[in-house]
Amino acid sequence: MNAPIGVFDSGVGGLTVAKEIMRQLPNESLVYFGDTARVPYGSKSKKTVCKYSKQIVNFLMTQNVKAIVIACNTASALAREELEELVDIPVIDVVQPGAKMAADSTKNNKIGVLGTESTVKSGIYEEYLHKINPEITVVSKACPLFVPLVEEGLIEDRITEDIVGRYLHDMKEYEIDALVLGCTHYPLLRGVIGREMGEAVKLVNPAYETAKSLKEMLREKNLLAPASSKAKYHYYVSDGVDKFISFADSVLPCHVDETTVIDIEAY
Ligand code: DGL
Repeated sequence: MNAPIGVFDSGVGGLTVAKEIMRQLPNESLVYFGDTARVPYGSKSKKTVCKYSKQIVNFLMTQNVKAIVIACNTASALAREELEELVDIPVIDVVQPGAKMAADSTKNNKIGVLGTESTVKSGIYEEYLHKINPEITVVSKACPLFVPLVEEGLIEDRITEDIVGRYLHDMKEYEIDALVLGCTHYPLLRGVIGREMGEAVKLVNPAYETAKSLKEMLREKNLLAPASSKAKYHYYVSDGVDKFISFADSVLPCHVDETTVIDIEAY
């Protein structure tokens, strides 16, 4: 089926997921929406995140998408169920695949989870991890300063190293051997986080497993684009086109030449 896949995030972080989908599903077209006017979601209530996410999904439905990928851990944690009720196309989130990947990665059953305040407060990773294996111990930490650091492009910077060091200081005492980067911005800080935690800790980026689950789901439902189709990518934001494009160009393998601003409140 040639229809595009709708991918959304509170801003630019979901591009790390879009990138992985482009790599694993090179024939699939994507419509990406980044809610750059209302980012961050990570400090907002469930009610607000659900309202924003529903508006975005309503918009994506106008683009005739065949499936939705919630490329935001916060929206996955707080709004997945509401979104599934809203539409009758498949909805994939990033948390379930991330939890599965972490459970597959750990050898000592001690897993760390980094996320936004709302994701950590929701306890969603613990819930999924305990469903997979009740023996797993989970230590979570909200890292609210990571998102602005990434948005400002301070990827390899002394300030970032300092903040990563402070956030992860306690985590190091728990002898975890897998650490979930449970926010779509965080994989961009994997260099600094990896150095801080050391080689014995496997960093889990849910994007890889999310794209894999998406592929399996599309195959099962007979929704895969034909091998002959050429992928087209369309980008929409709620504000700040120039900043979005320069960020997207630094993350994605292909140049983003056009991004459209839409009034998301109208949906
Ligand atoms: N992209 C969001 C997530 O994965 C983090 C950014 C935000 O707080 O909106 O949770």
